[in-house]
Amino acid sequence: MRIGILGSGLMGAKLGTIWARAGHDVVFSYSRSEAKLKKLARDATGKARAGTPREAAQDADALLLAVHWSRVDDVLKQAGDLSGKVIVTCSLPMNADDTGLVIAHTSSGAEALATKVPQARVVAAFGTVPSEVLFGVFAARRKKHKPSLVYCGDDARGKKIAAQLIQDTGFDPIDAGPLQVARYTEPFTLLIARLAYEGNEGPELAYRFEWFAEG
Ligand SMILES: NC(=O)c1ccc[n+]([C@@H]2O[C@H](COP(=O)([O-])OP(=O)(O)OC[C@H]3O[C@@H](n4cnc5c(N)ncnc54)[C@H](OP(=O)(O)O)[C@@H]3O)[C@@H](O)[C@H]2O)c1
Repeated sequence: MRIGILGSGLMGAKLGTIWARAGHDVVFSYSRSEAKLKKLARDATGKARAGTPREAAQDADALLLAVHWSRVDDVLKQAGDLSGKVIVTCSLPMNADDTGLVIAHTSSGAEALATKVPQARVVAAFGTVPSEVLFGVFAARRKKHKPSLVYCGDDARGKKIAAQLIQDTGFDPIDAGPLQVARYTEPFTLLIARLAYEGNEGPELAYRFEWFAEG
């Protein structure tokens, strides 16, 4: 797949690197440092390059939106026309100091994003795990018991692509339903963040859902 990374910070840099190593063609974009984007592309050791958000979006089969909520409008503007594009968003609608959600209960960041780009295929994924766990999950991708990763969206093609990327990263994709379910997944992330950053075991935390037969 050709993947454009919109926001090459903690999440975007790691996921882009993992996807390049998994064999995808990756364009890193939207950092304040051009040198950082170039280094990321070099270090990814796969098919990766640095570009502008517009270049990242051009010809992309999927885009990862990984910016602070306050930067969403800016990066979308720089990316240009995203009609028909699959946008996998891990971006959470956090306030300026990252202490709370600015959209919740009656909507979600993912739904607000879909309203901003109505012609795009928005899928919410990867936002429920800390960046610190991503390389560990990728390293363990051939193990039998994989951590879960929930995703949701309204577009079948977008969801298929997101599920593939989730699998390539080393997670077991859990289809949680329509995009509206992001109203539950986004606050769930605050629990994960609490456990990851306030707990005693460190931030390399993922989760796993299991189903048990009755009796
Ligand atoms: N970090 C996590 O563990 C985690 C987990 C789940 C969800 N999320 C969500 O995922 C999204 C991305 O998080 P992140 O931690 O990857 O963010 P981040 O490290 O701050 O990365 C954001 C990217 O946006 C870039 N950017 C470009 N212009 C910017 C500007 N004017 N001001 C600030 N940043 C600018 C940053 O540039 P530079 O490269 O120059 O810094 C960076 O590459 C957020 O919505 C967050 O809530 C994060």
